[in-house]
Amino acid sequence: MNIYKTKNYDEMSRRAAAILSAQVILKPDCVLGLATGSSPVGLYECLVKQYQNGELDFSKVTSVNLDEYKGLAPDHPQSYRKFMDSHLFDHINIDKTHTFVPNGLEEDSDKACRDYDLLIEQTGGVDLQLLGLGNNGHIGFNEPGETFQCGTHCIELTQSTIEANKRFFASEAEVPRYAYTMGIRSIMCAKKILLIVSGKAKAEALKAALYGPVTPKVPASVLQLHPDVAVVADEEAMQLIS
Ligand code: F6R
Repeated sequence: MNIYKTKNYDEMSRRAAAILSAQVILKPDCVLGLATGSSPVGLYECLVKQYQNGELDFSKVTSVNLDEYKGLAPDHPQSYRKFMDSHLFDHINIDKTHTFVPNGLEEDSDKACRDYDLLIEQTGGVDLQLLGLGNNGHIGFNEPGETFQCGTHCIELTQSTIEANKRFFASEAEVPRYAYTMGIRSIMCAKKILLIVSGKAKAEALKAALYGPVTPKVPASVLQLHPDVAVVADEEAMQLIS
């Protein structure tokens, strides 16, 4: 595991963008596993700038996103599909038919999850998986639990995740209660993993993930078992790690 400490969010974003763009340059037809949330916004801005400067070509890239709220249509302002379009896909030359997010409108959870696992398999596997870290140690929407959940599955959001995500919605009541998420197996199958973490609210979770026991109670701790992980975290997130 390589850990890069940065001064702040902006430097974290630039450093992580450099790792991600190296992947696209080295393998133009790579499969990127992508994330939403506040953590990757700055990174996506850097990628858009590099594309606009003619430094990056996404035309052969395929992407699979980690997760989607169950019940939200792709054009819902808070859907993760909409997030990806507005922060990245609408501004680069990626072929949108090669960008995938779990189908939030599929009511049959088993079908939605089966279809997504099959799709990931058909891409040939993820070359680089980008991850953010939940305040409670979650990755994707793999919430703390008793076992590591394997494939794509439907989860009920924990109260702490609802709390953390309500800032994006008009009220807490509007936060969907369920989501489809890639499982730990899909994440761990990625050839390389890039975890980005910013802010003091993540400090406990980051310390537990990197240096605590590997346990489903801290889903991100499983990353200790992956052979190729880069962690880019800012000083605030690293404040409990000497
Ligand atoms: C998003 C995702 C989540 C977030 C995590 C951190 O696709 O899967 O695991 O990465 O909740 O969220 P932010 O970055 O908003 O703090």
